[in-house]
Amino acid sequence: MLPLLVLISLTSAAGQSQSQTSTETSSNPPKEFMTSMADRMELLLLDRELISNLVQYAEELQEKVDVLQRCAKAMQIPLENSKGREEEYLSNPLHSFQLIRHMHEDWRHLEKFMRQPVGQDQINFLKNKATKFPSVEETEEATEAIYRIIFTYNVDPADLVKGLIDGVQYNSSISAIDSLSLGTLFFQWGEYKNAHEYLHYIFDLVNPEYYSVYDVLGLASREVFMLLARCLVELDMEEDARTTLMGHPALAEHSERLLTLYRNTRHVPVSWELMPFLPEEFNQICRSWHQNKPSRLHCRYNTTTTPFLRLAPLRMEELSLDPYIVVYHNVLSDAEIAEVERVTEPLLKRSVVFDGKENKMSTSKKRTALGAWLPDDNMDVSGRAVIQRIFRRIHELTGLIINDRQDMQLIKYGYGGHYDIHFDYFNTSTPITKARGDRMATVLFYLNDMKHGGSTAFTDLQLKVPSERGKVLFWYNMRGETHDLDSRTLHGACPVINGTKTILSCWIHELDQMFIQPTYRPGNRLS
Ligand SMILES: *[C@@H]1O[C@H](CO)[C@@H](O)[C@H](O)[C@H]1NC(C)=O
Ligand SMILES: *[C@@H]1O[C@H](CO)[C@@H](O)[C@H](O)[C@H]1NC(C)=O
Ligand SMILES: *[C@@H]1O[C@H](CO)[C@@H](O)[C@H](O)[C@H]1NC(C)=O
Ligand SMILES: *[C@@H]1O[C@H](CO)[C@@H](O)[C@H](O)[C@H]1NC(C)=O
Repeated sequence: MLPLLVLISLTSAAGQSQSQTSTETSSNPPKEFMTSMADRMELLLLDRELISNLVQYAEELQEKVDVLQRCAKAMQIPLENSKGREEEYLSNPLHSFQLIRHMHEDWRHLEKFMRQPVGQDQINFLKNKATKFPSVEETEEATEAIYRIIFTYNVDPADLVKGLIDGVQYNSSISAIDSLSLGTLFFQWGEYKNAHEYLHYIFDLVNPEYYSVYDVLGLASREVFMLLARCLVELDMEEDARTTLMGHPALAEHSERLLTLYRNTRHVPVSWELMPFLPEEFNQICRSWHQNKPSRLHCRYNTTTTPFLRLAPLRMEELSLDPYIVVYHNVLSDAEIAEVERVTEPLLKRSVVFDGKENKMSTSKKRTALGAWLPDDNMDVSGRAVIQRIFRRIHELTGLIINDRQDMQLIKYGYGGHYDIHFDYFNTSTPITKARGDRMATVLFYLNDMKHGGSTAFTDLQLKVPSERGKVLFWYNMRGETHDLDSRTLHGACPVINGTKTILSCWIHELDQMFIQPTYRPGNRLS
């Protein structure tokens, strides 16, 4: 795996101790720092614990320093009036006695005291907790997530350092070390202009009171100046690069040599495929300022499909007639949502996506989320009951047949979580499509309100559907008459900015509908 991040010395040291000890901890389930709020919470609490451990360590050191200073003072006082009159001083028999006794005994005790280790408990505590630190891979993933947010929502470096994202002001700003980390990352990805901007912000962000802290944490001014100069060389601004190098006392005399080096060894960015880019037409829809095209479509209460809806009409909104895309509001109650979340919590695993090339499911950078298939064999009666109720509700809404082999998936998107644009249909022959046909329709329940980010975006249709608690999005992946796969249903999940997004996805297969709908084998697909 390519190192996407030049991790500052401290983090890479932590990464090493992680890998050394990973065998001891391999029995623990892997942490999901990206998608699990609980795992990030654990990390936050650990951080607090380590800070108070550090305070204790500093206090122990301070205590020793205090004692040492008192010792030094106690020894200084009797000698004070000896200055300049040493002979007279030593003629005094008491002074002679004192000096000899003191030199014989006291320094030995002091040496013993000086050698006594201080704060070993705190050092060991820190060392033991290092097994819980995020690994290099996890840190890279977290960095990619912030990059995805920056790129999808088109966040300017100037806005990011102030905490302004996609028009929303967050109560946070980044530190000089964060800015170095972002600058380094953008450099690695070959975005030298942004890299230069982040590196430049370091000068605004450094706090002179923290100079010694930066030293400890590996923020070396030399490295910043050199990386800045390198960005400028990559941007063909060699004169500015020279000025930058000349501006650093330790680099000035080496500036020509460094410039030659940078000129002759141009930087090779991380390859495009490894970058967490999402397509621009998708990103544009995700951004706050995107408004769906006003349509003639109106809201109405759909009471025709099934007897249930005649009794309890639901507000239906037609988002598109061709392809047919509708939403229903307030379909699930708070109690139902809570029950689904309760039974799913223990089942959540890193979600996998279908890989057309390999013809199998595997984890992928295309989707960063946790998922669980429902119903599950280990579920209790109440869990099964709520899943069955939701299946019945899907039947009532859509009129489609839900049989015994129907399942659904709960998906949880966490920090920066997203799903790259994709089709819900497989368009290939798999055991599932052989048995049940391809995915004819999709039913997607939103289980929470997203404050910011996390909408569903249909790129071809320029349509954004925000995540609103209890809402259902329903669409056909095939054209009504021909059952041709409908490529206009291309869609994805915008990166989550604030909070966690939870959805429930249900895919209805065409062969399961054969008693109510004739099936076709249309020409535009493989299965
Ligand atoms: C982010 O979400 C939290 C929790 O819902 C909310 O309290 C907070 O106000 C949100 N932040 C912003 C900037 O919208
Ligand atoms: C914003 O952060 C400051 C300190 O960083 C804190 O004192 C304040 O309470 C925070 N405000 C909100 C609304 O969270
Ligand atoms: C009600 O919904 C079903 C399925 O979504 C649809 O086929 C039907 O045309 C809708 N009826 C009305 C009156 O909109
Ligand atoms: C299905 O796959 C075939 C072969 O790759 C491709 O030619 C066709 O365009 C695909 N159909 C759709 C609707 O994506």
